[in-house]
Amino acid sequence: MAAKRPATVESTEILPLFPTLVWKMQLARDTYAPMNEAIRAKLLALARATPDRAPGGKLQTDQTLHQLPEFHELRDIIHAAATGVLEYLRVVYESLELTGCWANISPPGDAHRPHTHPNNYLSGVYYVQTQAGADTISFDDPRPQTNIISPLTSESIDENAGQIHVSTREGLLLLFPSWLQHQVPQNRSERARISIAFNLMFSRFGETMSRPKWQGNVRSA
Ligand SMILES: [Fe+2]
Repeated sequence: MAAKRPATVESTEILPLFPTLVWKMQLARDTYAPMNEAIRAKLLALARATPDRAPGGKLQTDQTLHQLPEFHELRDIIHAAATGVLEYLRVVYESLELTGCWANISPPGDAHRPHTHPNNYLSGVYYVQTQAGADTISFDDPRPQTNIISPLTSESIDENAGQIHVSTREGLLLLFPSWLQHQVPQNRSERARISIAFNLMFSRFGETMSRPKWQGNVRSA
């Protein structure tokens, strides 16, 4: 804590209650370099095979990339990372599946407005091509009440910011709760930014996980 502790105080503590967690995983170069090259080549081929797209504009693929062989290595890495997240959170579940996986190819000048990923538990993004000027993703404070009284601050720190910028680089995998609003600042570089976004949800959620977590004391039969 920055504030000076008076002699009358034995100890102080800040309790980070209900933190919003974003998981960062940087892949080793030996893994991500060849994988990204294969992904880039496949995306180029897919774009070429879709002649009716707007020239020079933002490209977004179908949400089924995880079914293509070129994405199976990434699919397995995402699944392993998500399994680790659920283990960390002590979540009890039967199985988790990728419900969507798509590429965003954002040309210079492109930005991505604030959004969430509804109807999923975890979402994330993997970076295939980023460079200076196109290497940030921003997360918005999920507590809208904090904007009601928002005094000027002498310095922006994570604890007083309404938005937190996370630096990205090639081979980086991010995972976060699907409800966490995020956005991508304008691409200020001279090359496209290529990222793979995805959603994860519990398989058969209704059948396996949606029963009440409590028991009544009156029998119905
Ligand atoms: Fe997103």
